Amino acid sequence: MNLGLFESNALSEVLKLLSDGQVHSGEELGMLLGISRAAVWKTLKKLELIGLDVVSIKGKGYCIKGGLDLLDESKIQAQFHDLLNINVFAQIDSTNSYLLRQNKPERKVCLAESQTAGRGRRGRAWVSPFAQNLYLSIGWGFEGGIAVLEGLSLTIGLAVVRCLRRYGVCGLQLKWPNDILYKDKKLGGVLIEVNGDPAGYCVVVIGIGLNVSMGDGYASRIEQPWSSLNKIFAEQNLPLPRRNQLASCLLSELNLILSRYHTDGFSTFKNEWVSVASYLNQFVYIHKGNHVQQGVFCGVDDSGALVLDVDGDRVIFHGGEVSLRREHVS
Ligand code: BTN
Repeated sequence: MNLGLFESNALSEVLKLLSDGQVHSGEELGMLLGISRAAVWKTLKKLELIGLDVVSIKGKGYCIKGGLDLLDESKIQAQFHDLLNINVFAQIDSTNSYLLRQNKPERKVCLAESQTAGRGRRGRAWVSPFAQNLYLSIGWGFEGGIAVLEGLSLTIGLAVVRCLRRYGVCGLQLKWPNDILYKDKKLGGVLIEVNGDPAGYCVVVIGIGLNVSMGDGYASRIEQPWSSLNKIFAEQNLPLPRRNQLASCLLSELNLILSRYHTDGFSTFKNEWVSVASYLNQFVYIHKGNHVQQGVFCGVDDSGALVLDVDGDRVIFHGGEVSLRREHVS
């Protein structure tokens, strides 16, 4: 586990103090940390390493402009009692990797303010700046081997859509198999990793990355057009909820949807998924390794596999390394 800068509790305490966006004097911070003002300055410099802009105001003190919307483990845990076991880290390599390292990750949840090695699908990096977005993983156990997991990432996308609808957001779409889109731009993604017996009991780690207040400064690091909830809520004249609220809401939808998926499988979610599917009835390209197949995207079957109409024939594609695109990319 990489806690790096945050091994010190005092640093986390300073962060909490500065999260209100107000100016705090060096004395106040020094007293809290039990260190000198010079050492306070050095400590604050460390915050710049994680991309935080700590402003120093001569004769007054320090502040973080606009404040920070920090996650609070106890607030989130309070919503789930014994149902889920929540861990929030200030910094970690990857929330998925953390759960994959656990002995029994079932019903464990890992959230982090930032990830140093956040992973996306197909070996891509997931840009994970501090305290701006949600990086969340949850562990779940399934009987029946990996075959029953075909539609899982589609169903997880629905949990995100259901959660955001509770806040009044409309216009979200899901792109097979794992993207959450708004106006064709990527708002979030799902990464599912499996441990255990491919034919029996599997432990699944489900990772969700959701852009909440992604700073424009990170745009150049993201390889595709992206969106973020702060822009969507503003566009739809809705108040942006705190990240603690969003995380709790998402976890409660995940808990519901995972329990139902466990007993009923994907077929029960199929119509709901198709109702928010992007590229439906459109001409698309399916990339599988070096092979590209063209056809009309007809939706999904009862297991969640993609159905393509190729010159009148129904061709089925399963998850894994397949990707669906509107353009042909060589
Ligand atoms: C994708 O669209 O490529 C999937 C992105 C998944 C990112 C999330 S962030 C939380 C969890 N931890 C990771 O390292 N990845 C997932």
